[in-house]
Parts: sequence; C-alpha cells; structure tokens
Amino acid sequence: MRILVTGSTGQLGSALLKQLKGLDYKVKITSRRKPEGVDFKWVYSDLLSGDGLEEAVKDVDVIIHAATSPVNKSKDIEVIGFERFLSKLHHIKLFIYPSIVGIEEIPFKYYRLKYKAEELLKDSSLPYTIARATQFHSFVDNLLLSKPLFGRYIIPGRIKFQSVDVNEFARHLIDLVNKGPQGKLDDFCGPDIMTLREMAELKIKITNETNNVLSIPFSGKLYNSLIEGKNTNPMQKKGIISYEEYLRNKLN
Ligand SMILES: NC(=O)c1ccc[n+]([C@@H]2O[C@H](COP(=O)([O-])OP(=O)(O)OC[C@H]3O[C@@H](n4cnc5c(N)ncnc54)[C@H](OP(=O)(O)O)[C@@H]3O)[C@@H](O)[C@H]2O)c1
Repeated sequence: MRILVTGSTGQLGSALLKQLKGLDYKVKITSRRKPEGVDFKWVYSDLLSGDGLEEAVKDVDVIIHAATSPVNKSKDIEVIGFERFLSKLHHIKLFIYPSIVGIEEIPFKYYRLKYKAEELLKDSSLPYTIARATQFHSFVDNLLLSKPLFGRYIIPGRIKFQSVDVNEFARHLIDLVNKGPQGKLDDFCGPDIMTLREMAELKIKITNETNNVLSIPFSGKLYNSLIEGKNTNPMQKKGIISYEEYLRNKLN
C-alpha cells in the first residue's frame, strides 16, 4: 500500500511519520518545507498555488491529509485549494480527512471552512473517511497556556476542552488505512472534559510554576459555544493519555 501524508511538518504530520516508520507501507510525504531527519520520499507541494500536487499524488493509493492553514489564506487553502486537490485524485483508493469535533456548531471561521471541506469531500466521488478529533493537548497548551503575563494566565477560564493526544489520533488514522472508506466516523476524543481554568491550574501544579490564573469572561457566540462544550463529546472518550499525563511526559 502506498500512502501519501500531506502536512508532513505539522503536529499531526510529524506524529504520523514517527509511527509510519517501520511499518510495511511505501510512504511519500509532502509539505512546503522539508522535514528534517526523515527518510521518506519528500515532494514539495503547495495547496495554495497548486504547485507540485500532481507529483505528490502520483503512484499513491491512500492519502492522509494533514496539511492545513488555520490562519493564513485559510479559505484559499482549506476550501479552494482543497477542491482543486480533490480533482486530481481520481485514482486513489482512500482519502482520510482529519477534522475537528463540533465544527458545525462552533462559529469560528476556520471551523466553517473545515465543515465546507467535509461537505466537498462527501459530494465528491472519492472513497473517503472523515475522522474528527478534539483539540490536541499540545494545541491547547501552545495556544492558551504558553504565555503567562506578569505571572498570570489571563484566560477565558470557563471554556471547555476534551483534549486528546496527537499520537493516539495518528495511530487511529493509520489503523484506518486498511479498512477502506468508512464515511464519517464517530468522534475521537480525549479522556477528560476540563475547563481551561482547570487545565491551567493543573499545569501550574505539575510544572511547579509560580503563576496563577485570572479567568476573565468573554462575550459572543464563539465563547458561549465553547462554554457549552460544543467541541467535546462525552460519549466518545477514545484517547487514554490525559492532559496531566501529557504534561508529565513533557517534563521528562
Ligand atoms: N491541532 C489540533 O488541535 C487539531 C485537532 C483535531 C484535528 N486537527 C486537524 O488535523 C490536521 C492537522 O493539524 P495540525 O495541527 O497538525 O496542523 P499544523 O501543525 O498547523 O500543520 C499544518 C501542516 O500543513 C502544511 N501546510 C501549511 N500551508 C500549506 C500549503 N499552502 N500547502 C501545503 N501544505 C501546507 C504545513 O507545512 P509547510 O508549512 O511546511 O507547508 C504543516 O505541515 C488539520 O486538518 C486539523 O484541522 C487538528
């Protein structure tokens, strides 16, 4: 089986490459920057311009599409570039699209674009599997808990996350390769639903920080949807590695 991993330098892409190493697949990878220390065949491609896409998708059976651009030219890449990408894939046996839990209910531009991409994929004639996950532990950490200001994490403490370990999600995606097209799967979520305040307090405790937490209320539909936990799914606690364990592993 010949697999192409797009977004090979990203969080998910790197986790996929680590686990594909040593497995019995012929792996090709693509991104704009070349990842370091990787033996797989790398092909430059850009979803924005379309450069290199034909070369990237040549001679592959399965694509795990981990390329994404949440902020920069997101519509051009997530939707317009994505549709052009799909139009080049008539030969493939399976397209695996990692997506995000609750995107149709969370009023956030990037999530709307991901939902549109899911719809494009469903409407295409391609054999696909859509695998939605909750936010990765590292994502919550990098986005909201990496920048204490004057000894405080100033955060919207009531919003909730059910973060999941990126390596567990990568394993889940690799397990899908031989299963053929599954349509849209059940969500893949982390083991605990926590408020951001609880996550910040846990981080302070585990990493022995002197910071404290200042929780401030935000207003608006996005904030409310995250307070309501639209990005979580208590019925699908599939990941085992908790945020606490992720933090402890990071320390070692
Ligand atoms: N992060 C999360 O918490 C989370 C949770 C659930 C699902 N997901 C989904 O998982 C997937 C991967 O997310 P991630 O967090 O791993 O993303 P990421 O770390 O931001 O990585 C994005 C990848 O896309 C590549 N890329 C960016 N712009 C590109 C372009 N114009 N053309 C080609 N490649 C481009 C980047 O490489 P270059 O810059 O080198 O091109 C990079 O390898 C996404 O579909 C995301 O929605 C993420």
